[in-house]
Amino acid sequence: MPLWVSLLALASVSGQFATASKPMISLHPPWTTAFVGEKVNLTCNAFLSNSPQETTWFHQYKWTKTSREIPGNTYEVQESGKYRCQTQGSGQSDPVSLEFTSEDLILQAAPSVFEGDTVALRCREKPGSALSAKVMYKDSRYQQALRDGSDFHIHWAALKHNGWYQCKALREDYNSVASNKVRIQVLELFPTPVLRASPSQPKEGSPVTLTCETRLPPQRSDVQLRFCFFREGQALGSGCSNSPELQIPAMWSEDAGSYSCQAQTVTVSVAKKSLKTHIRVQRAVARAQIHTRPPLESVFEGQELVLVCSVRGVSGPFSISWYRRPKLQDVATKIPFSPEAEFRISTVKSSDAGEYYCVASTSYLTFASRTVTIHVRVPVSRPVLTLMPPGAQALEGTELTLHCEVQRGSLPILYQLFREDTLLQERKTNSWRAMSFRFSLTARHSGNYYCTANNGLGAQRSEAVTISVKVPVSCPVLTLMPPGARALEGAELTLHCEVQRGSLPILYEFFHEDALLKKVETTFWRVGSFRLSLTAERSGNYHCTATNDFGHQRSEAVTLSVIVPVSRPVLTLRAPRDQALVGDTVELHCEAQRGSPPILYLFYLNDVTLGNSSAPSGGGVSFNLSLTAEHSGNYFCEADNSLGVQRSTAVPLRVKGELTLPTIA
Ligand SMILES: *[C@@H]1O[C@H](CO)[C@@H](O)[C@H](O)[C@H]1NC(C)=O
Ligand SMILES: *[C@@H]1O[C@H](CO)[C@@H](O)[C@H](O)[C@H]1NC(C)=O
Ligand SMILES: *[C@@H]1O[C@H](CO)[C@@H](O)[C@H](O)[C@H]1NC(C)=O
Repeated sequence: MPLWVSLLALASVSGQFATASKPMISLHPPWTTAFVGEKVNLTCNAFLSNSPQETTWFHQYKWTKTSREIPGNTYEVQESGKYRCQTQGSGQSDPVSLEFTSEDLILQAAPSVFEGDTVALRCREKPGSALSAKVMYKDSRYQQALRDGSDFHIHWAALKHNGWYQCKALREDYNSVASNKVRIQVLELFPTPVLRASPSQPKEGSPVTLTCETRLPPQRSDVQLRFCFFREGQALGSGCSNSPELQIPAMWSEDAGSYSCQAQTVTVSVAKKSLKTHIRVQRAVARAQIHTRPPLESVFEGQELVLVCSVRGVSGPFSISWYRRPKLQDVATKIPFSPEAEFRISTVKSSDAGEYYCVASTSYLTFASRTVTIHVRVPVSRPVLTLMPPGAQALEGTELTLHCEVQRGSLPILYQLFREDTLLQERKTNSWRAMSFRFSLTARHSGNYYCTANNGLGAQRSEAVTISVKVPVSCPVLTLMPPGARALEGAELTLHCEVQRGSLPILYEFFHEDALLKKVETTFWRVGSFRLSLTAERSGNYHCTATNDFGHQRSEAVTLSVIVPVSRPVLTLRAPRDQALVGDTVELHCEAQRGSPPILYLFYLNDVTLGNSSAPSGGGVSFNLSLTAEHSGNYFCEADNSLGVQRSTAVPLRVKGELTLPTIA
């Protein structure tokens, strides 16, 4: 960009630049002092001309004034004096004084120095003058030695550098020689800025433009300035920018206060802050207000969003316009007859996020609403629930992680974990699109799991994942119903085999003296049952086993005795001969075929007890009777095992005793 373009741009924004039509002289090389015989090119920089043309140069040396026209804008000179230039249609430039000297030592400097500049002062000896030990002075005070012909530098020039500079050197005969004195006067790069507000007392809801006014000198018109604005010392907007203007679309009473601005160079080598300007905001009766449907905090991508601008305090007709920042883009205009206008976004996208405001105008009044900031939230996608380690089966006691993750969705997200529709855990996260839940597996963790994710638009639910925890069977316990170690023959008995723990299905097996009686498989309950009708052979030891895919266990043994009532006994008499005689011994044998021992047998003759005998095991008992004459009659016996008494049929016996003993007549 040509210098003058940026200068004009600056002049137009900062609003005051009176010297724009004055050309400016620049030097090459940039020094105002040179040795006689050297040449300097003067260039006339005219800001309002863009094609090279004739330039008129004015030269004044003492009282001699000359002027000449030179084609182009460069003029090579070698004479001392003041030079000015002029181009067609411009005024005369400020003068530049050049001095061509024949002294032995000169100090060279640029014609002007501005704040923040880096300035070089060059101490030069005339060729062939054989000077040494050059030293720099400021206001007759030693500054530094200039070794090997180096320049003297002033960095970040400021007022403290003002003064008279001179360099000195030694001749071969050690006499000192001094240069010309150069006066450095550091010029202000730009004046302290002034903050202006337009309008200076804005009405509530109306815009205000802040302008930070300052200007750069023509020689430094290429310097880029940056501008920062403050309210009550706090930076406004998004920091400093290249624009000296800041637009506030609507002022509200709380925006009143002290405003200031700062202008600075890009490197901040020069920065100047304005005085404070107090901006008052006039209360407006008329107001424009925005509300949204749905409310601001739940604007979700893909849904409809309606912005409603309502105007209060003035009567129509209105025109209501909608704007969107930061682009200051006119998004929609409506001219309704009612004091309310809707702006509808049928499907909100993330690019619709931004600051919105509306401006209402009547024929005599224009006012804006506050801005509302729309954040477009992304609804959560359907979460996916995964198991770590993968697989739906895991042995009891292992660590399991359930991982619930969504692909999309604005944070924060609330994650919930359910088992069979019962909420187990929930957690909200501001930083992750996934959440993990950890368990040490126990049997009760079996079931169907799912998770939900919700960020305000309703929960999304994952598919269910079934976890079956593999539990080996515990040791079963065998119980008898009805309980007891003894049971009557013919009774019904139920055997229950039960485990406390163990994954289903479980196979139960019932054993009697290691012989398998029955297999029962259960898929619902942890108990297996088996019904048994008792016979005498069922006495003995019972046990059961429980088996599932993860283990096999055997119960302790349970002993059962089946007790049998005695059957009707049979009495037999054994005599040595067919006809029993007195003196014979008869053996009475009584025996019941069935009946749990011990059995007590009792012998009777015509209802008179003859004796008794107990049989501890089976087989019946015998009883010897030595016959007398009184032993004729009916014999019978009884069997008793405390479950009942049974009597045999009667057996008659006739005893004949008259054979050996004489009958006493
Ligand atoms: C002045 O400009 C002319 C033309 O560009 C050039 O030939 C000459 O060397 C320049 N002189 C100096 C001292 O720069
Ligand atoms: C069995 O016989 C003994 C003596 O022989 C007697 O004391 C007892 O009472 C008898 N028992 C019964 C039940 O008759
Ligand atoms: C009864 O008598 C017979 C024959 O004399 C004998 O063998 C048997 O052992 C006796 N029994 C008892 C119980 O005394």
